[in-house]
Amino acid sequence: MLTDTITDTDFVKFWNTVLEPKFTKYRHILQGGLSRHSAAVLPNLPIRKGMSVLDVGCGWGDMSLQVAEVVGPGGRVVGIDCVDAFLQAARKDAAAKGLTNVQFLRGDAEVALPENEFDYVIARFGTMFFTNPVAALRRMRKALKPGGGMTHIVWRRREDNPAWQAAKDITLRYLPPPGADADTCGPGPFSMGNEEMTGIMMKSAGYEGVTFTRVDEKIMVGRTPEECIAFALAIGPGGEVFREAGAELAEAKRPEIEREMRAFFESEERDEKGIWAPTSSWVISARNPG
Ligand SMILES: C[S@@+](CC[C@H](N)C(=O)[O-])C[C@H]1O[C@@H](n2cnc3c(N)ncnc32)[C@H](O)[C@@H]1O
Repeated sequence: MLTDTITDTDFVKFWNTVLEPKFTKYRHILQGGLSRHSAAVLPNLPIRKGMSVLDVGCGWGDMSLQVAEVVGPGGRVVGIDCVDAFLQAARKDAAAKGLTNVQFLRGDAEVALPENEFDYVIARFGTMFFTNPVAALRRMRKALKPGGGMTHIVWRRREDNPAWQAAKDITLRYLPPPGADADTCGPGPFSMGNEEMTGIMMKSAGYEGVTFTRVDEKIMVGRTPEECIAFALAIGPGGEVFREAGAELAEAKRPEIEREMRAFFESEERDEKGIWAPTSSWVISARNPG
């Protein structure tokens, strides 16, 4: 454990108690959707046999496992996440695949990461949640050997991700916005969507050669309209408004919110697998100066 001797922050406690059960319930939607954004990217990264790679905010670890196959037995992958249940699932999947070159560790990237140890650092939809993003991005850079590379994937702006935003807009028509002291999962999913600001963060964290590549992918947001609605009210910007409004008010407004959400999701593309919504991410790559 990286944070054995450090008490969990409120943020880590929140992930382990409030968010974890919701994420686990909708793993098929989340992992299925997020992996579509890394599928085209991973094969083009300069990750080779024998390399050591760190996956920050690895979640259920599917990307760590894919990279473990690429680096092979002579290489090594470490997945770090702050949620125990995700790490347990990741370890189980690694064992089922017979992968012995991958290790999953409990850690808070805001508090501590290994230093000067890795050839490459990756993160898929994990860095937007950092409360102090420049400090955490710098810590990720320091995890690299000199000259090492990093790639993280983050959502582009809210207007480029209309399904996430629609869920929030609909709930806000019936419920108040979360207060300034609300329990949240950090600055939020779109906090790195602005290319100019995130470029400044990367440079402030000490990276060089920063590039942004846009990825547009349709992702399955639920197998049925009912599942889309339940997912949108559990996770993401709409889920946050619903949760923070308090059970009494939220439940009173649920029928109207669900009616409007149903109309929205029924207007999205549908096939035999489910309902699909367009989403857009940045693949941000950079180097630790050599
Ligand atoms: C949206 S999920 C993405 C998970 C995984 N990378 C994927 O793409 O399936 C964000 C992940 O970041 C983790 N996370 C958020 N803040 C973290 C921190 N400070 N340190 C370590 N992990 C963190 C969460 O526990 C969660 O697993």
